[in-house]
Amino acid sequence: MIIPDQELITKDIDAYLEQHRNKDLLRFLTCGSVDDGKSTLIGRLLYDSKMIYEDQLAAVVRDSKIHGTTGTDFDPALLTDGLKAEREQGITIDVAYRYFSASKRKFIIADTPGHEQYTRNMATGASNCELAIILVDARHGITVQTKRHSFIVSLLGIGHVIIAINKMDLMDWSEEVYEQIRQEYNAFSARLFFKDVHFIPISALKGDNVVDKSENMPWYNGPTLLHHLEHVNISSHQNFIDMRFPVQMVMRPNLNFRGFAGTMASGVMRPGEKVMVLPSKQTTTIATVQNWSGQLEYAFPPMPIVVTLADEVDVSRGDMLVPVNNLPKVNSEFDAMLVWMSEAPAREASHYLIKHCCSMIPATLDKIRYEVDVNTMRKKPREVPIELKLNSIARVKMVLHRQIAYDPFAKNHATGAFILIDRLTNATVAAGMILDKPSAEDAAKASKPKSDNITRVASGVQPVERERLLGHKAHTIWLTGLSGSGKSTLAKALEKRLVQEGVLAFLLDGDNIRHGLNRDLGFSNEDRKENIRRIAEVASLMNDAGVVVITAFISPFIEDRLAARETIGGDRFSEVYVSTPLEVCEKRDPKGLYQKARSGEIKGFTGLDAPYEPPEKPDFTLDTSSASLDECTEKLLKWLKPLIIS
Ligand code: ADX
Repeated sequence: MIIPDQELITKDIDAYLEQHRNKDLLRFLTCGSVDDGKSTLIGRLLYDSKMIYEDQLAAVVRDSKIHGTTGTDFDPALLTDGLKAEREQGITIDVAYRYFSASKRKFIIADTPGHEQYTRNMATGASNCELAIILVDARHGITVQTKRHSFIVSLLGIGHVIIAINKMDLMDWSEEVYEQIRQEYNAFSARLFFKDVHFIPISALKGDNVVDKSENMPWYNGPTLLHHLEHVNISSHQNFIDMRFPVQMVMRPNLNFRGFAGTMASGVMRPGEKVMVLPSKQTTTIATVQNWSGQLEYAFPPMPIVVTLADEVDVSRGDMLVPVNNLPKVNSEFDAMLVWMSEAPAREASHYLIKHCCSMIPATLDKIRYEVDVNTMRKKPREVPIELKLNSIARVKMVLHRQIAYDPFAKNHATGAFILIDRLTNATVAAGMILDKPSAEDAAKASKPKSDNITRVASGVQPVERERLLGHKAHTIWLTGLSGSGKSTLAKALEKRLVQEGVLAFLLDGDNIRHGLNRDLGFSNEDRKENIRRIAEVASLMNDAGVVVITAFISPFIEDRLAARETIGGDRFSEVYVSTPLEVCEKRDPKGLYQKARSGEIKGFTGLDAPYEPPEKPDFTLDTSSASLDECTEKLLKWLKPLIIS
């Protein structure tokens, strides 16, 4: 075998083994369709990092000449093709783990050789991974499959992603192609929950930028794939904070001993700790923690242990031990994201078995709230009857036959994940991730004030009295559009014209509000949502006061604008889409922000690497690139007047 550090092996095997033992371990997943070059990439990593037996290599070189598809002396894909033969014989292999080691880290690759159509393998393989390599064929760019894989990787809580743009050799090593894919992916992934995304242009076949730096792409200054894998800073997704111990088996070898066996799911357990048994809610104290080697001072995941308790409490398989001061949720229903993995479609009200930690419980897929369109990351319009087909991703409500203890997946992978099993065939039909956020219905209840002890006071003045006083109705004209589309300029001109005509009008402008009321907010999706929520509340109050409000905010998300309409009231709210195209906005660049965003100085800039969702049915549309300011203002005024003056 040709191994790195060969010299050390021959000179000092103990030192080599010690060094090897101390390397940290990174588990990663490779996603891509067969043709994206997945096997070639894995083969190349193994070959270039010299983790191949010499006789194996000789066989591949021999086979490359006969079966190779690459016309070269060496086809790295053949190194990983052993599994293909098994697949052809009908042997199902969900995930194959491959091991290799470089100078700083050891790696486990979860290779999912199943048909690329099937996300099941991916979900199984990904369960322990900290990083995902998503392969993109430079010739085809970002495909639906890329988006689907990315979405599942994000759902599974893998925060570190490498987009390996492969087959650059077939695109003349073009920087433009790379740049275009990078931008497209960035715009798409803004809605996903990745901690970091790295783009690396490679040729797995020729070896460029896999282990060795490419000489064909001098424009790329970043690290090679292996260098990145060796140095990327990985935050562990293992939860060492919230102690959870699902009981797998009750051990009663004799009358003097009653222990509970299982694997630590998360957190740290110590003898003497006060714990609660869920779902029964009895409390007791941990007496001892032990494993095959004897008594332990503490245990952490994924250690298999046996626990004894200080009191004779009732504990059975499927129960969970948790600290009394840090409880999970206990419920028989919750919302979850589901990846449907079966050919047989899922319908509402169907019955399954749910496997969660150590319990297997009858459960009903109660509601399919919506299916996610992986192309846009938005909800799909609801079809009737709604059903989930193979590979669909949906938000659902599950109802279980009894209560279980769980955490949201985002907080705890071990206690927040489950699978659904078909009761007749015993096949796994779905993987689920329990959600933290309540559904929209539940959220509506939660959007009530913090305190229960406040009541609304009705005004003693009727809106018509104010209308009579001012001579017009109150209204909110909500301008939405890209930065530089002309919202503020238009809004200012409209405000002036209205006041000249005797209308009490007032402009709420994005940049201004962000200096005061909203100075604590940035430009993350959450902050933009909060920005719009507060503006809508202010506009609503001003409308209550009788004022005509004009707002000029990018307000990029349909959902947030809908919420604003609801807050203000549909009969006094109009959405105006300032539809000036991105190219024109960027050319104008009144604040020089597009330039800053292009140079990387600003991240998450709307229209470039943050999304903008145009209104589906605006009340009025204006493109400021094709008419003068005066013309646009007059058009707006003409449309608006009948709404406020009767
Ligand atoms: S919104 O997205 O939350 O509705 P808002 O309209 O308040 O945005 O603010 C947009 C203004 O902030 C832009 O016109 C621009 O001047 C400035 N800005 C600064 N950073 C960004 C960014 N990352 N994306 C968009 N606008 C930005």
